[in-house]
Amino acid sequence: MYTTELKDKNQKSAPVTTVAEDPAKLAAFEARVAADDFIEPKDWMPEAYRKTLVRQISQHAHSEVVGMLPEGNWITRAPSLRRKAVLLAKVQDEGGHGLYLYAAAETLGTSRDEMIEALHTGRAKYSTIFNYPTLTWADIGAIGWLVDGAAIMNQVPLQRTSYGPYARAMVRICKEESFHQRQGYEIMMALAGGSPEQKRMAQNALDRWWWPSLMMFGPPDENSPNTAQSVRWRIKRETNDEIRQRFVDVTVPQAEAIGLKVPDPALTWNEARGSYDFGPIDWEEFYAVVRGEGLVAKERMKARVEAWEKGAWVREAANAHAAKRAHRAAAE
Ligand SMILES: [Fe+2]
Ligand SMILES: [Fe+2]
Repeated sequence: MYTTELKDKNQKSAPVTTVAEDPAKLAAFEARVAADDFIEPKDWMPEAYRKTLVRQISQHAHSEVVGMLPEGNWITRAPSLRRKAVLLAKVQDEGGHGLYLYAAAETLGTSRDEMIEALHTGRAKYSTIFNYPTLTWADIGAIGWLVDGAAIMNQVPLQRTSYGPYARAMVRICKEESFHQRQGYEIMMALAGGSPEQKRMAQNALDRWWWPSLMMFGPPDENSPNTAQSVRWRIKRETNDEIRQRFVDVTVPQAEAIGLKVPDPALTWNEARGSYDFGPIDWEEFYAVVRGEGLVAKERMKARVEAWEKGAWVREAANAHAAKRAHRAAAE
């Protein structure tokens, strides 16, 4: 799964240069970034760069693990053994994505515990898409196709993001996301080609997930105050609107290919631009979900906190095992 940097509309955007940086160091850093060099954990970096990355990578990590919940709900109800095995593998991948990303964020001087704390107390954001419920099996298809599809659009450019550990995590994640996208599309293809009732189910899932998927790319560029700085520092390689447009252009023909209709009466092919024009996005809904008013926001956090608490014994056992091994190694 994925995230773009999220903020409540009323939340002031964090000032990007609060610390007066050494101008010579800053100039050297900016020259390296402009030359497409990767910045590594031990390199000097401006404080605002570090902070932006910690926020973006940890939000991304949170989105991966919260993203396990809506699909996890369907593992026991998958319609066949094959679907169950595939979905199980996919949900496990998302857990792995969370792990790589938490580890990447830790290289910037934050700790796993701090990040988890921020998530569980509601201080940290995660992608709004996971606060929508999964009502039918077709939603699992729609999530793989659209949500993981949107994730790929966002994450492919991040393989060249300027921070080395984040970029490298993205390479592996992108490979897995493309499997996720295909498994989702294959579910949709099967339903859309099935009985009239199955086709209706697929259409209904597309109707509910289309607009929230477009919101996943984050607010329009004119309301995304940190975008310019993030593009300059190559934390982001493209703007929200650019990636959103590419997603629409790729996804509309996929819907048509399986006989489904994108729920947007304003959708038209613009010959001059070589792109689709599409209708206005309901940003009020987006900001409401960012504020925590999503249909299942409370349920998601409750499930996360419970999983964390129930997993305490695993963490304790792993620590005891590590201490025992270290002790034994020292004795030898
Ligand atoms: Fe995924
Ligand atoms: Fe993922």
